[in-house]
Amino acid sequence: MHDKLIYDENSASTYEKFTTLVGKVAEAGETAAFLERFSCGRSALELGIGNGRVAVPLSEHGVKVEGIDNSESMLKLLANRTDQIKAWKGDIADFSSEQRYHLVYCVFGTFTLLSTREEQIACLRSAAEALDEEGALVIELPVPVLDGFIRGQRVIANLLDYENTLVNVEVHDSLKQNLTSTSLWFSGTSLRRSPQRIRYVYHQELDTMAQCVGLELAERWEDWAKGAFTDVSKRHISVYRRTSV
Ligand SMILES: C[S@@+](CC[C@H](N)C(=O)[O-])C[C@H]1O[C@@H](n2cnc3c(N)ncnc32)[C@H](O)[C@@H]1O
Repeated sequence: MHDKLIYDENSASTYEKFTTLVGKVAEAGETAAFLERFSCGRSALELGIGNGRVAVPLSEHGVKVEGIDNSESMLKLLANRTDQIKAWKGDIADFSSEQRYHLVYCVFGTFTLLSTREEQIACLRSAAEALDEEGALVIELPVPVLDGFIRGQRVIANLLDYENTLVNVEVHDSLKQNLTSTSLWFSGTSLRRSPQRIRYVYHQELDTMAQCVGLELAERWEDWAKGAFTDVSKRHISVYRRTSV
């Protein structure tokens, strides 16, 4: 498998159906409302903007949203939806921007698609540099769940609805914190196969990596409605600001 999975035309075209099935389209409005408070009506940059699931409703709140993505197919979907968002092809592990943003954000676990620690730190460094003085970096990440591996392998089945079954076949590399997986999505009579590699991170490691690039944790929630983050939370939404000196 290539080190970097690029969303091709096939995966991009089914992205909307997939995000609808797993409830991510339904929560996009709430995500945008949360992010709007941090952008203060000014400019925002999304890392891995995709088809604009979140960026489009955020720009409808009056925020000037820009975005980076490494998939031309995803950028095409975004361009078909709106001409209000400037987005360009780039790698979120290695970007620089002349402009400073009041909000930089990376949601839906996109940060873990950077499959090495070095890439993750480089992304945080670029994000920190892109923030204006008072700016905030918001990251949404799942809490890693590593139950059920036998000799480093596990299979997880999700029955999404009567028509759709998703089976994830995963291999764990505990030294690199990598999960290399293939998703098998059975829909009616069709089967779609998508490979992926992520590097999972716990919230405390994320805080440490952020500290390395001059950011400190300001807030952490378990969802967009600002529920308390606890030991049973399935994800976290972490807000970082520049370390005060
Ligand atoms: C899980 S999707 C999330 C898309 C969108 N942010 C959302 O919440 O619906 C991850 C997105 O990140 C992009 N992506 C993955 N790795 C990337 C990288 N290294 N640089 C830029 N974009 C990347 C993919 O092309 C895809 O559009």
